[in-house]
Amino acid sequence: MTAAPVFQLSADRSELTLNWPDRSPSTYHAIWLRDHGQDTASRDPANGQKLLTATDIDPDTRIDSARVTRDRLSLTFEGGVSTWIDLQWLQRLSTDPRAEPPLIPDGRYTWGSALDPEEVIASYPDIRDNPGSLAKWLAWVDTLGFARLRQVPATPDALFEVIDLFGFVRETNYGRLFEVRSEPEPTNLAYTRVGLDPHTDNPYRDPTPTLQILHCLENTTSGGESCVVDGFRLAEILQRESPYHFSLLSRYPVTFRYHGDGKSDLNAVRPMLEMGPDGSLQQVRINNRAFHALSGIPFAQVTDFYAAYRHLVEISRRSDVSVSFRMQSGDLFIVDNTRVLHGRKGFTEQGRRWFQGAYADIDGLRSTLRVLRGGSAE
Ligand code: FE2
Repeated sequence: MTAAPVFQLSADRSELTLNWPDRSPSTYHAIWLRDHGQDTASRDPANGQKLLTATDIDPDTRIDSARVTRDRLSLTFEGGVSTWIDLQWLQRLSTDPRAEPPLIPDGRYTWGSALDPEEVIASYPDIRDNPGSLAKWLAWVDTLGFARLRQVPATPDALFEVIDLFGFVRETNYGRLFEVRSEPEPTNLAYTRVGLDPHTDNPYRDPTPTLQILHCLENTTSGGESCVVDGFRLAEILQRESPYHFSLLSRYPVTFRYHGDGKSDLNAVRPMLEMGPDGSLQQVRINNRAFHALSGIPFAQVTDFYAAYRHLVEISRRSDVSVSFRMQSGDLFIVDNTRVLHGRKGFTEQGRRWFQGAYADIDGLRSTLRVLRGGSAE
């Protein structure tokens, strides 16, 4: 921050505006400022957890006096309570209303076939040994939802060493990991030689695993290239081409189900395009194999729903949205399963193809990334 902002109080002292030197002004309610105070009586200095309870705050909070220094806003409220708040932290949590919330959440960047899969690749020894390299690799997962790795040991269970760098395995009915190779009596189409349309995994779980990791131990087949597609980009295109189709897929839920192994019956009822409370995309679920039933939609809109679904799938098959690459022994890729679809082309009878896959969760990955970057200013 180059210079301290100038502040002004509203006439009734219930709001305070900060006029930043390098961006548009931000206005805060007095009650919000009281709640976000960072003094040691308001927040535990050791862990940042809030010490105030909801009933400690006067519903008619007014500011008695304020003072801005280079890095702090200091406040005294009517009644005599004082606090302070870090200015950089205030900037990040600006409460200025936005006229139109963005479809894509802040900090995420959508991509199509122009994304070079060689640009998001790191070597395992490098990210294992260098925190800066690990942070860069995790940041690709955070912002793009996709990253690759080379030089992972081509040995069973080696993907756990990669997951240990940023978080924890999410164990499922498939186990701590699942083997992806052709099987004589497959319990899932993934374990055959057929191609797989781009999809997100496990939409029948609640919550869905938010990361998927696939590690190639062996690949001597012809074909079988892997591909990834940014589901947030698909949603952007769908909204641009047909706001009506977008509204149908974001409004009405689908029942996703899996009961293929004889001992599971997993079921989740969720929209294919799930929006967060702020109006931005939260998660996409695209997986025709698991699309069990459509219910809870008005009779008159069923045909339109199928047109919208077909439209979305057609967009996912366009050449300008997909990124393809061939996995070699020792390669690994990771996707944010809440947004990035993965698929593969069919492969031949000749040669062997052996992948191991596992799930993990992106909240742990983002936590590791924040810690590597030095944590928040709070
Ligand atoms: Fe999959």
